[in-house]
Amino acid sequence: MKRYLLAALVLNCFLIITSAEAVIDKVGDIGNASEACAACHAEIYTQWKSSVHEASLLHSIDNIYSYIIEGIEKDPVRKGLPLKTELMKCLHCHAPVMEQASDKFVREVVDAIKIAGGKSANPDAMKKAKDLLSHLNVSCYTCHNMKAVSPPNTPENQTVYGLKGGANVPYHAIKKTAYLDNAIFCMQCHGVYTAPDMERIICSTIAQSYRDQYVAAGGQTTCQDCHMRKNNRGHSFPGAYVPEMLKEGIALDITARAFKSQSYGDKKWIPAAAITVDVTNRAGHRVPDGCMWTSRVVLTVTATNEKDKVVWTAQKEFFEPGLDTDGNRRYDTWQIKDILDYSLQPRKTTTEKYYAVFPEHEKLIKLEAKITYIHKDGLEFPVHSERKVLRYN
Ligand code: HEC
Ligand code: HEC
Ligand code: HEC
Ligand code: HEC
Ligand code: HEC
Repeated sequence: MKRYLLAALVLNCFLIITSAEAVIDKVGDIGNASEACAACHAEIYTQWKSSVHEASLLHSIDNIYSYIIEGIEKDPVRKGLPLKTELMKCLHCHAPVMEQASDKFVREVVDAIKIAGGKSANPDAMKKAKDLLSHLNVSCYTCHNMKAVSPPNTPENQTVYGLKGGANVPYHAIKKTAYLDNAIFCMQCHGVYTAPDMERIICSTIAQSYRDQYVAAGGQTTCQDCHMRKNNRGHSFPGAYVPEMLKEGIALDITARAFKSQSYGDKKWIPAAAITVDVTNRAGHRVPDGCMWTSRVVLTVTATNEKDKVVWTAQKEFFEPGLDTDGNRRYDTWQIKDILDYSLQPRKTTTEKYYAVFPEHEKLIKLEAKITYIHKDGLEFPVHSERKVLRYN
């Protein structure tokens, strides 16, 4: 406790936990940054540092930049609306602390996004912009205060909310809440958002899929169970950028039966195979999820001969395309108003069946089924690969 007390004294000199009403006028006013928690919660801080939550603005900078340039500045309607209201249509979830920003700070952040996303600025300006934006994220305080109580209740200042609800400590008061243990806590941000003016932003679609497809099919595990408690994942919140998670979320099974085929009226016997590939989604929601509207899970089945020459191949993509109000496919978050669903459904096995016919004289065929998770071209992860050998005599 002595150690905590000392840290509290040191930190208190320059740290003020921002109250819900306080106005943030410059980056230094964000007094409740995660760095303030690191002194006493070192391990959790290190895990959080490795998570996407730590960089929740910079990690999606390209799309947020394009929203500002194409969505706000070039749209006569949006351009005429208050800048903060429009910006919060992304930052409500990507940097919730901006709810408390003054108009001056909003302008500063928008300018920084234009520099950091624009790529043409000089290195100094770029570094300055990225430094500023790195303070905007899903911080400890975002989850343990701002989003930690179920509306219409509001969080108390200088207080962190936890599941245990232990005694107050010198740096912060502690309040017990069961809300943090609920899927709905994560769903506040991981689902479709309705802005105060009723515009609907479809970025993440996990919440709807979790409730309507996973829970509806009998799934009972929560987000916290899979993403935090399992394998002591804690605050690293692994998702679709972590190979271990992808392997866990998608199962692959291939069976194949070799036989000889004949065309009707033809005398020749041709090597062939009946191939069945089962792809099972073991996650708690559809795979892949929207937002990165280019994401897809690709199943490739390839047959090669003894000389490793490809003699037959098939491919299937699982994805969730987003459409605008006119029904055109789009890739920018703010334009997505509807979805089509070709994704893998939770608690379901998708079966692909093939009747493959190979070149006449082949004696041995090597079959390979592969799953690849593609975020966008050039950013992809191999997930599984299964093989089978077929012999003909
Ligand atoms: C309701 C909360 C919410 C709103 C509003 C929101 N997002 Fe997101 N966004 C998320 C969540 C949660 C994820 C992570 C989802 C995932 O990977 O499945 C995400 C992921 C993303 C990604 C993918 C990042 C990556 O590289 O994997 C992009 C890009 C993105 N958001 C852009 C935007 C833009 C632009 C806006 C505003 C037009 C916006 N978001 C509004 C919650 C939101
Ligand atoms: C995305 C939301 C989120 C963020 C960000 C977050 N936490 Fe948590 N935290 C949770 C949830 C949910 C739990 C409860 C999970 C459990 O106990 O299994 C939790 C549990 C905790 C606990 C109790 C753990 C225990 O074992 O007793 C502490 C302490 C804690 N968080 C501190 C932090 C600190 C410090 C940070 C920032 C470095 C942070 N959290 C960031 C959601 C979050
Ligand atoms: C001066 C040290 C100190 C600092 C700084 C500190 N904490 Fe704590 N915190 C503690 C101690 C001590 C406990 C009680 C023991 C434990 O659970 O680790 C605690 C407990 C917690 C809990 C668990 C609450 C429960 O359910 O009992 C959470 C959540 C938490 N802190 C979050 C934070 C966040 C967020 C920050 C930064 C804004 C922060 N802490 C900064 C010392 C500190
Ligand atoms: C304050 C809003 C917010 C809350 C609450 C929140 N998240 Fe997130 N989360 C985000 C955003 C925004 C991103 C995407 C950041 C990016 O990629 O730019 C994200 C990313 C993630 C990712 C990584 C996604 C990927 O593409 O790999 C996982 C996993 C995740 N969150 C799980 C959780 C879980 C589990 C909870 C509840 C315990 C939770 N989140 C609560 C906003 C939130
Ligand atoms: C049964 C376990 C399980 C449950 C329950 C679960 N997830 Fe996942 N989640 C996974 C696995 C495994 C992956 C990796 C495969 C993938 O990318 O979908 C994943 C991926 C993700 C991703 C990245 C998705 C993408 O395609 O970009 C996010 C974000 C996420 N989960 C958030 C959540 C949230 C929020 C909840 C609760 C509403 C939740 N998860 C419930 C297992 C689970």
